[in-house]
Amino acid sequence: MRLVVAITGASGAIYGKCLLDVLHNKRVETHLVISKAAEKVIEHELETTKRSLEKLADHVYDVDDLTAPILSGSFKTDGMIIIPCSMKTVAGIAHGYSDNLILRAADVTLKEGRKLILVPRETPLNVIHLRNMLELAKQGVTIIPAMPAFYHKPKKIDSLVDYVVGKVLDCLGIEHKLFMRWMEAKS
Ligand SMILES: Cc1cc2nc3c(=O)[nH]c(=O)nc-3n(C[C@H](O)[C@H](O)[C@H](O)COP(=O)(O)O)c2cc1C
Repeated sequence: MRLVVAITGASGAIYGKCLLDVLHNKRVETHLVISKAAEKVIEHELETTKRSLEKLADHVYDVDDLTAPILSGSFKTDGMIIIPCSMKTVAGIAHGYSDNLILRAADVTLKEGRKLILVPRETPLNVIHLRNMLELAKQGVTIIPAMPAFYHKPKKIDSLVDYVVGKVLDCLGIEHKLFMRWMEAKS
């Protein structure tokens, strides 16, 4: 399996790190792009550099590299995940405004009819955010808000993160044990 993973400047860089960790352990081929804003968020929230996340990926591209393989539909992938996804990037995809590699790769994923998964994080959401996400959902994009559940009785931040990343893996058809499913949790 070959996936494009992008990390943008919404809060929740830890979701991106967790997904990269899991995909690395499952030997999924990953092509990673980290936005400039995400670099700042990674430093602030994870107290690490983008380099430490890039080490988990097989291929890494600069967000301004508009010659990377992932900007072309001829480069086959099994889909793309943007985790976390800022409202700016949601807007760019919804309006076909592909002025960086993340936006272009998402545009390509959509035009080629491949799986595009967004993990948006913002609160509260204004009408523009909601309208952009609705438009993308209508185009077949899977929107998995960074919105953990509590029925599995999480005790640690990691369990909340694992829940959201587990939902992404479910969508990709990748087996995992990141969270307890309802039938196990209720018994
Ligand atoms: C610490 C921090 C947290 C942020 N959190 C969010 C957020 O949760 N959601 C969001 O849409 N933007 C958030 N932003 C603003 C985005 O980083 C900003 O809109 C940026 O232009 C997004 O660009 P990108 O999509 O290319 O990464 C945050 C910025 C900072 C510095």
